[in-house]
Amino acid sequence: MADARRPVPRRILGVGIATLDVVNEVAAYPAEDDEIRALIQHRRRGGNVTNTLTLLRQFGHDCAWAGTLAEDAGSMEILRDLSRNGVGTRHCRRHGAGATPTSYVTLSRETGSRPIVHHRDLPEFTAADFARISLAGYDWVHFEGRNPAETASMLRDCAARRPELPVSLEVEKPRDGIEGLFAGPRVLIFSRSYVQAGGYADPRRFLEDQWSQVSAELLLLPWGKDGSYAQARGGRPVFAPAHDPGAVIDTLGAGDVFNAAVIDGMLAGAELSAILARGNRIAGHKCALAGLDGVVPSARAAGLL
Ligand code: FRU
Repeated sequence: MADARRPVPRRILGVGIATLDVVNEVAAYPAEDDEIRALIQHRRRGGNVTNTLTLLRQFGHDCAWAGTLAEDAGSMEILRDLSRNGVGTRHCRRHGAGATPTSYVTLSRETGSRPIVHHRDLPEFTAADFARISLAGYDWVHFEGRNPAETASMLRDCAARRPELPVSLEVEKPRDGIEGLFAGPRVLIFSRSYVQAGGYADPRRFLEDQWSQVSAELLLLPWGKDGSYAQARGGRPVFAPAHDPGAVIDTLGAGDVFNAAVIDGMLAGAELSAILARGNRIAGHKCALAGLDGVVPSARAAGLL
């Protein structure tokens, strides 16, 4: 299982958000209207795509983020953190109006669950912003499935300028028009909550039902503590069981870690069941670690890569 080989570094562009996460760790999740004390509070940079890029950087890739930032103190924290993590920010767009998107997270030490109250008042990254990025030299582009109209234009632009460039799209939340994005990307990563919101209890059934509306080669479906599923075009659904990390202390960003691990695996040309199993191992391992610092080195040291 242990694979000490380092992947060939690739250039990866991620389009999506960066947030400030104010994480209150509590012994157990409060009942409604309770007043409790946090055991400890952390402020961290978060956001799905920047989390995923942080991990891809830990895998050794050259990563750049495309997204928006406000002109406030929170955005300075975000920039400092991305720089500390080696994620490039030259494509980000600053906005004088608005504020840093902030997530207030209550992290339960009892279960590792992490309800999030998210406040957002910042313009989204647009297709016009994306058009200014030279795609020359990139090996992969990963999009968050948000702001569907603009993201649809970015996907079209990407396909027009670099038709052979692999594109993945994360579909985390049901949003009006999100299905309009499914036609283009080579890889679609659906969240369990998106699938369940669509009324599906059976992940395999969901995968089978997507093929009529997508041109993707691969569909991925992380199913949290119950493992993950995938299906390649023309193939049968594949399942990999979850990795049990022992004590679960922080699940925030585990899905973003899975996404990074599977993108890394696809870039390395690994086989599908191996990609899934490795994604589960590193995402599971992350749940026993606080935050995202050093997840890949720690998984490597534990013989999980
Ligand atoms: C975790 C996360 C947090 C962020 C929130 C945004 O996946 O990216 O870091 O606050 O989700 O939805």
